[in-house]
Amino acid sequence: MNQANLSRLCTVSRRTFMVAAAGAAAGCATAPKGACRAAAGAPIALPPLPYGQDALAPQISAQTLSFHYGKHHQGYVNTLNKLLPDSPFAGQSLEAVVCATAGSAEHTAIFNNAAQVWNHTFYWKSLAPAGSGGAPSAELAAAINAAFGSLDACKKALSDAALTQFGSGWAWLVAKQGAVSVVKTPNAETPFTQKGTTPLLTIDVWEHAYYLDWQNRRADYVKAVLDKLMNWSFASANYAAAQNEKSC
Ligand SMILES: [Fe+2]
Repeated sequence: MNQANLSRLCTVSRRTFMVAAAGAAAGCATAPKGACRAAAGAPIALPPLPYGQDALAPQISAQTLSFHYGKHHQGYVNTLNKLLPDSPFAGQSLEAVVCATAGSAEHTAIFNNAAQVWNHTFYWKSLAPAGSGGAPSAELAAAINAAFGSLDACKKALSDAALTQFGSGWAWLVAKQGAVSVVKTPNAETPFTQKGTTPLLTIDVWEHAYYLDWQNRRADYVKAVLDKLMNWSFASANYAAAQNEKSC
């Protein structure tokens, strides 16, 4: 990846991040272009959950959330904050760290932990307590219909991606140049490092996301999330932000 592409990616991602993970890098929201950096030495913060730990039950229990958020997500934050001070990325925003380390064999550990911090913040926002996630906006619904034919077919594509991701990873609804599609990523990989790609929603399919509630039944967990917990209002806001992107 050359520096020009990296710069464009980070410009796109910074805008996405402001919508997707507001609170994780609050300073980015008012920073001038090119100056989205945390204060030197400032640790990467664990953003608060957007709901109570029991708010997603029974599809996702409070026990799962307490481990998933309080141990796994917190663990990625802690590890990242141990790795960053002695790296070239000290003081950078979370998003900038992800952009700078994507595809770098030299900085795999930093990328894995930084991307997992970002992915989990995005995942919490992709979920909403049953009955509160809204529906796709008219603009997003039109894009979904154009790509899949219906919202149900879009959910089927998300389910297929989630169930065919071998091992740990993520299923995503993304937008690129106005068109929506479903992609899956392994381990910590995240689609916002791809040029012009804006994540809209994600489903975590690491076993730690569902094993306490559903054991090995990933299909049941994915169905429960898609039927009850998807935050289409969040996806709609991300889609609207993607429409204003000019550079990629
Ligand atoms: Fe997870």
